[in-house]
Amino acid sequence: MCEVSRVVIFTSILLFLGVEESCSKNILFFFPISTYSHRIPVWPLVEDMVAKGHNVTFVMPYPPKEPNPKVTEFAPKEMVKYVLDNEEGPVAVKMRSEGVSVIDSQWFVLTDWGLEMCKLFIESPDTQEWMKNNHFDLVVIDGLYNDCGLGLAYKYNAPHITFVTSALFMWHGDSYGIAGEHSWLPDMQYHYPQAMTFMQRFWNVYNPIYWALEREYYYLPKLTEILRKGLNIPDLPPLREIERNVSLVLMNSHFSEEFARSLPPLVVPVGGMHIKETNKPLPKNIEDFIAKGGSKGFVYISFGSAVQLANSPPEILAAFLGAVKRVDINFIWKWDAEIPKDMPKNVFMQKWMPQQDILAHPKIKGFVTHSGLMSIQEAVYNGVPLVSMPVFAEQDYNAERIHAGKYGIRLEITTVTEDQLVDAISKIVYDPIYKQRMLEKSKRFRDRPMKPVETAVWWVEYVLRQGDTSFLKPLGIHQNWFIRRSLDVYFFAFTILAVLLIIRRQKKIPRH
Ligand SMILES: *[C@@H]1O[C@H](CO)[C@@H](O)[C@H](O)[C@H]1NC(C)=O
Ligand SMILES: *[C@@H]1O[C@H](CO)[C@@H](O)[C@H](O)[C@H]1NC(C)=O
Repeated sequence: MCEVSRVVIFTSILLFLGVEESCSKNILFFFPISTYSHRIPVWPLVEDMVAKGHNVTFVMPYPPKEPNPKVTEFAPKEMVKYVLDNEEGPVAVKMRSEGVSVIDSQWFVLTDWGLEMCKLFIESPDTQEWMKNNHFDLVVIDGLYNDCGLGLAYKYNAPHITFVTSALFMWHGDSYGIAGEHSWLPDMQYHYPQAMTFMQRFWNVYNPIYWALEREYYYLPKLTEILRKGLNIPDLPPLREIERNVSLVLMNSHFSEEFARSLPPLVVPVGGMHIKETNKPLPKNIEDFIAKGGSKGFVYISFGSAVQLANSPPEILAAFLGAVKRVDINFIWKWDAEIPKDMPKNVFMQKWMPQQDILAHPKIKGFVTHSGLMSIQEAVYNGVPLVSMPVFAEQDYNAERIHAGKYGIRLEITTVTEDQLVDAISKIVYDPIYKQRMLEKSKRFRDRPMKPVETAVWWVEYVLRQGDTSFLKPLGIHQNWFIRRSLDVYFFAFTILAVLLIIRRQKKIPRH
């Protein structure tokens, strides 16, 4: 409709203004139940949508580091206070010391967190006031426990899009009726190697069923109750129904970096939107430090914003400090605390680092990382080999791919020794095979018909143009978990077979 009306543009400036107005939509990005890092992959889409004239509101308790004056930010006071009181990054390494399975089980805790945060959000007087004064034409919802936003989509009678900040989570196959590939695609929570043993396949097949049932019978009904009360819509349909009403799923992942998946047209991979194509020169202090290293180059160490290495157990820190003294190369280290006194001359530490500009620097030789997805995507884009030390969330899943694809070396952070670190860093810096594999990966990652953010914008506007996009969805979205897996058919066939075998056996028994 917008396109046709544009003809009118030439006839009257007044009408032109009117036309633009009607093309511009009020879009809500609902990302309150998350960490700051969830803002990063979706932000380029937000900025491009406002550049196209749409009116965007972004909901998140973590304020943007570089705000866009055209984007309206909203977060209720209670929520901002809650996240300030509960920053728990440093706990992560300590928790991992109790075992990787302790970290994997953190996924189970998320359910109650999602419920609690939705209650906090929706019952806040700020939110109640905000809801009264706004209307939205489209709601984009963070795919990790922000299902609270489904209530808002219903309230405003607006279509909704799910934005998944990584590859699909364990339950998304069942949420959207996508055929399962559980016998060969490793589950994100259990991050098995690609060649799974029978027992690993067992858990890999079982886990999505667990999540589908947990959501259908525990999480979503509870959330429905919270929203019925908070939105004051007593006859709000069950959220499972609103969830099925999804118009599109954008996924921050791409087959060149992850796995080939059998995705329906509903799911559009846009992995790597946040990557900058042109890089700024580095700040003078960093550039001077790199120049001092001459042709030796440098290695970058960063554990992202959620993991604070400075707060990890002393033996881990000792291993790192010992290793950087022994490898004859410069280190640029994102360090979020006071700088230790006995730092060797080959180490440059600072709280904030222009990470993408550093990874794009021609003298970078390697990257020691916590294996967060966005760091991995940036490293792949720039062809920088990795030492991968996962800590929590989807990081083990990413580290497994790095290990299997041999474009980096995986180490276990809780037991890492100085020797292991020296060995791994030396390998990725001096053995050219790692760089070579990374460059191949980089070439594949960059080779696409459109930039990922252009793809995302096109699909979001497709939803606005089409209105009803139910034709994108697998018909299985309406089936339950066992029919979707054809378990009833197998069960029926197996029963018939068993009955036939029994009858045959009985006939064979001679009568006396
Ligand atoms: C844009 O969105 C903000 C926040 O929802 C709202 O206050 C404002 O009225 C909207 N502007 C237009 C032109 O719709
Ligand atoms: C599905 O979405 C449409 C608008 O996109 C809305 O009119 C309808 O009420 C929604 N149904 C449910 C169950 O959410």
